[in-house]
Amino acid sequence: MKRLAILTSGGDCSGMNAVIRAAARTAIANDVEMIGYRKGFAGLLKNDYLELTSRAVSGVLQRGGTFLQSARSQEFRTAEGRRTALDNLLREKVDGLIVIGGDGSLNGARALDLLGFPVIGIPASIDNDIPYTDMALGVDTALNNIIYAVDCIKDTASSHDRAFIVEVMGRNSGYLASTSAIATGAEFAIVPEVEFDLTEMCHQLRRRYEEGRTNALIIMAEGAGHAQEVADSIKDCAGFETRVTVLGHYQRGGAPTVFDRLLGSRFGLKAVELLLSGTKGVMLGLSTTTLTTTLLEMVVKGGQKKLNNELVHMAGILGI
Ligand code: F6P
Repeated sequence: MKRLAILTSGGDCSGMNAVIRAAARTAIANDVEMIGYRKGFAGLLKNDYLELTSRAVSGVLQRGGTFLQSARSQEFRTAEGRRTALDNLLREKVDGLIVIGGDGSLNGARALDLLGFPVIGIPASIDNDIPYTDMALGVDTALNNIIYAVDCIKDTASSHDRAFIVEVMGRNSGYLASTSAIATGAEFAIVPEVEFDLTEMCHQLRRRYEEGRTNALIIMAEGAGHAQEVADSIKDCAGFETRVTVLGHYQRGGAPTVFDRLLGSRFGLKAVELLLSGTKGVMLGLSTTTLTTTLLEMVVKGGQKKLNNELVHMAGILGI
């Protein structure tokens, strides 16, 4: 192999730059050229790329987001788009491609794999909903962002006898909500995977208020509904005044944590080593502390990763 390529696709997350840097430097160490497509599959379709020299990837490790930029490409979803992508790769004499992203991006990686092109997928999504990996890239940083914000909110909540409903991201997954609820000592976590009893929550909030507790915290996953609707339906029964904070895209940015810098670096290095050794059509993953590979075919068939019951159980017990 003489020339490899990398791209970041779908929603960005912290740690993507660490993968790009590690992959480029591992390629260079093996006398292989690395190029980076801008804006994911959209850049691949336009043949828009830059050479990733060692210098080009210096100073990016500590930066959130992705300096290659990212996008969700509709054109790449079509058979014609995928054919164009393959043609571009072959014309540029690219021997293998690393795709960093969430479920949609890994589906894209699988599409190229089906066309016979050597590809390695790297799971990156704050939602942590990708199967066959304990952790996706960016999750740890997002969780740290969330707990920082929620700790701040708790300070102001307790100064005013207020209940806050904090809506966090996660698409259809309750991972961010349940994990951050445990880590911030929230009273309730509302997640799409578990049916929620609003009346019971109201009773418990009322009891808490009457005991003279100064605040209450509810973390709600965006996939479980709208925080404002929950606030409206509890405002007359909870005792506490209610307020809503939607954390939004704040969660996705910021300097990656040590965990995401290390995981990204490990993923980047390993992805290049796998391609150079002839492995293709797999997604890297993390199982406890060990890197794993799973066929992309299995990953895309795996659907959304199930929420760990232990998290739900803990959030329920420790809350009240
Ligand atoms: O998949 C990552 C994610 O941040 C989800 O948690 C969220 O629902 C979605 O992306 C937001 O997408 P966009 O950045 O396109 O608004």
